[in-house]
Formats: sequence, structure tokens, C-alpha cells
Amino acid sequence: MTAYGAAISGVGSYAPPGVLTNEDLEKLVDTTDAWIVQRTGMKRRHIIGPDGATSDLALPAAQAALSAAGKTAADIDCIICATATPDYLFPAMACIVGFRLGVAGKPAFDISIACSGFVYAVTTAASLVRSGVYRSVLVIGAETLSKITDYTDRGTCVLFGDGAGAVVVERSEEDCFLGSELGADGTDPTVLYLPGGGSRMPFNTNGKFAAERLGYIHMQGQSVFKFAVNQMVASVRTALSKAGLTTADVDFVVPHQANLRIIDAMVKTLGLPPDKCIINIAEYGNTSAASIPIALAEAVAAGSIRKGHIVVMVAFGGGLSWGAMVWRWKDAKVGAPARQTVAGALA
Ligand code: ACO
Repeated sequence: MTAYGAAISGVGSYAPPGVLTNEDLEKLVDTTDAWIVQRTGMKRRHIIGPDGATSDLALPAAQAALSAAGKTAADIDCIICATATPDYLFPAMACIVGFRLGVAGKPAFDISIACSGFVYAVTTAASLVRSGVYRSVLVIGAETLSKITDYTDRGTCVLFGDGAGAVVVERSEEDCFLGSELGADGTDPTVLYLPGGGSRMPFNTNGKFAAERLGYIHMQGQSVFKFAVNQMVASVRTALSKAGLTTADVDFVVPHQANLRIIDAMVKTLGLPPDKCIINIAEYGNTSAASIPIALAEAVAAGSIRKGHIVVMVAFGGGLSWGAMVWRWKDAKVGAPARQTVAGALA
């Protein structure tokens, strides 16, 4: 039993203007445009540059979502940021975003579950709204994966980009949150992880940090690939079943954009028509917790996702972790992000 309904009432996204193309990567590592396109579907990624931090991207995405929802930051009761690349290990990036939105004092926290973060954060927001704890929650998925990408490792550096997306989840007479499925299995965290900077291998570990490249993403690509296909399919099926729906009811799937082949395999196994899947991986690469809200914002802006549609968002990522959620699209618009001068944190 829930006390209230919840709906997504505004969407926004933002990507930094700097672009790293496959041709640029050919100059950095032993790779080719043809290999990257064929194995991943990626052509470009947006990259923030040395002076920027993740909250610089989160802020314009949040402002766009707020304006689309017809709200100001003062109307928001709580801010949740999904990110694996916050400005600082602590404080939470949501605190910084709240300050920069001019609403210091509101509850604000981060969710750290890598690429599954946005699905976890929106599910959390929906739970807070449906239980009556808050009326309006701002959820942001934002990443600067370029900061933890090893541009000497061709196995990972072609995959990742930077960006941010946001939604406002708010109380609604009609309950548009139809079901979700979250999960995690930490049996082997090293399948996909950032070895350094935590308590197991702190930054100040003498000499080892740079020598062993501990500050960069390490990944067993093929293991992640197999897990991703199986788990995304299972998550979509479970979330739909909790919603009392089947794949035949789905208007659009917005998947985490990690690899075009993973998405294609998921769509095929689910028996979905390919045009029901939102894909923008060629332009952004994998932006982790930001990838679903960026794709969602673009699909709403293009008029693909419309009122009444059944929309499934599905992700997998480090943990290993996964999540899927089913929404009925109420009538949320997408806001245009103000052009930002990407500057240092707290600028
Ligand atoms: N350019 C050229 N060749 C390459 C490159 C490259 N960029 N990268 C790897 N290769 C080579 C390998 O060295 C290997 O060569 P070999 O056969 O001589 O040994 C060959 O290509 C095949 O390598 P595979 O690893 O088998 O390639 P695969 O088809 O599996 O593609 C990829 C690799 C793209 C990484 C794929 O495994 C993948 O997408 N995995 C999932 C990644 C993912 O989704 N990560 C999620 C991260 S989300 C988060 O939480 C941050």
C-alpha cells in the first residue's frame, strides 16, 4: 500500500561541449574507428576537461529538469545524486548541488552504485514520494568518467564519457511508478572497479598509486558483457511482472548505454521491436549513471516518449549491480539547459 502516487514531472540533461572522437583515440592508443564502432557502437564522447568537476554538469541538468517541471529549486524537498565520480569522496555531491542551486539546508545525499545509480536513485525518490515523506525530489545522474579513465588502456578508454541528466519526481494523483527491480552481487567487486582512493587502497598508499594506475577504472570486459546481457533481460522481465505488464505493453525501453551489442542482444532476447529502444551511444559513449537520463531527455525532446507511454529504464554496472523500473509517462517535458561556463568546483 502506498499513501500517494508519484510521477516524473520534468527532465533535463547536459553534456560538456568538449568532444573526444574515435579519431582522437586512434592517436592515443592502438585502436581504430572501425574497431570501436563495430565492437561498441560509439563514435564520440563528451569530455569535461581538466578544470571541471561533476557538479558543473549536474547543475545545468538539474536546472533544466526543474524548469521543465515548472518548479524552482525552493520547491524541492530533497536532492539525490547518483554518481561514481563525485566532486569529492565527501561531502556528497548532492550537498554541493543544493548549495549551487541556492537551497542549502534541504536533505541531500548521493547514491554510489556505479552505472545502476540512476535507477536506484529514482526508485528511492519514488519511494520517498509515495510514502508521503517528501512531495518533490530532484534526482540527478552525473559523471565525469574521463577523470578515472586510463587513456593508455585501449580496453577501457574508448568506452567512457561525461555528462548529466536529471528528473523531478513528485506527488501525483495518478501513480505512474508501476514497478521496479533492484539487485546487487558483490562476490567479486574487482570485475569492474576503481581500485584506489577507498579505504582498501587509500590515495596516500606510498608510491603504488601512480605505478599501479590505481586511480583508473579496471574492468574484465567480457565478464561484464555476459553479465550485462543476461541481467538486463532478467531485470526488465521482473520489473514488468511486478507492474503486471509484459514486453508487449512496453512503448519504450531506455537502457544504460554501455555497448550497442549489449543493447541489441537485450532487445533481441526480449523480443522487442528495435525501434522501441532508445539509443544514443554513438554520441556520448558510456556515461554511467548519467546515460539513462540523457537518453530519456533526448527521447522526450524528440517527441518519441509521450503521455501515456509505458517506459522501462534498465541498467547494470559495478557492484555488480542492476536495476529496472517501469513508469507510465505522465506529461513530463524536457527543459533546455542554460549554456554553462564549465569551471572549477564551487565556481
Ligand atoms: N581497439 C582495438 N582492439 C582492441 C581494443 C581497442 N580499443 N580493445 C581491445 N582490443 C582487442 C583485445 O586486445 C583483443 O585482442 P586479442 O584478440 O589480440 O587478444 C581483441 O580486441 C578482442 O578483445 P575482447 O575483450 O574480446 O573484445 P570484446 O569484443 O569483448 O569488446 C569491450 C571489448 C568493448 C570492452 C566489451 O567486452 C564490452 O563492452 N564489455 C562490457 C563493458 C561494460 O559494459 N562496462 C560497463 C562499465 S559500466 C560502469 O559501471 C563504469
